[in-house]
Amino acid sequence: MIKLTVNGAERSFDGEPDMPLLWYLRDEVGLTGSKFGCGAALCGVCTVHLGGAAVRSCVTPISAAEGQAVVTIEGLSPDGNHPVQVAWRELDVSQCGYCQCGQIMQAAALLKETPKPTDAQIDESMSGNICRCGTYPRIRAAIHQAAGTTKPASKGDRL
Ligand code: FES
Ligand code: FES
Repeated sequence: MIKLTVNGAERSFDGEPDMPLLWYLRDEVGLTGSKFGCGAALCGVCTVHLGGAAVRSCVTPISAAEGQAVVTIEGLSPDGNHPVQVAWRELDVSQCGYCQCGQIMQAAALLKETPKPTDAQIDESMSGNICRCGTYPRIRAAIHQAAGTTKPASKGDRL
């Protein structure tokens, strides 16, 4: 029996311990914000927080979450107003949106660890999160905005 918390709620799981955490979150708990992409830790769309750190849930067995706190995009903030989410909306970061929950979870973990990241630190942290729509310039700008390291931009700014 694996015991964990998901977005603050205590849960237990009695199935296969090597089930990917992503499967558990989507199919067992019904949290579908975390997406499936490559299934091989190569794209980042499945990123969640495990024990406060960003992990690729497609390659993380549910057994690794024993006794740990898992946070998904649905639990990042009670009202969707985590500073990263606010900046994402203000800068209209998303295009198709498929990668964006993973991007936001990765960015939130970065800012928790490094509250005022440089461009190089942002690039290093975010380099494993792929966006086929090419929203990278807005992602970087939104992280700076959430960190308070740039002047606030407006939707009309070209990014
Ligand atoms: S689906 Fe997990 S990294 Fe691509
Ligand atoms: S917004 Fe489309 S893949 Fe990133």
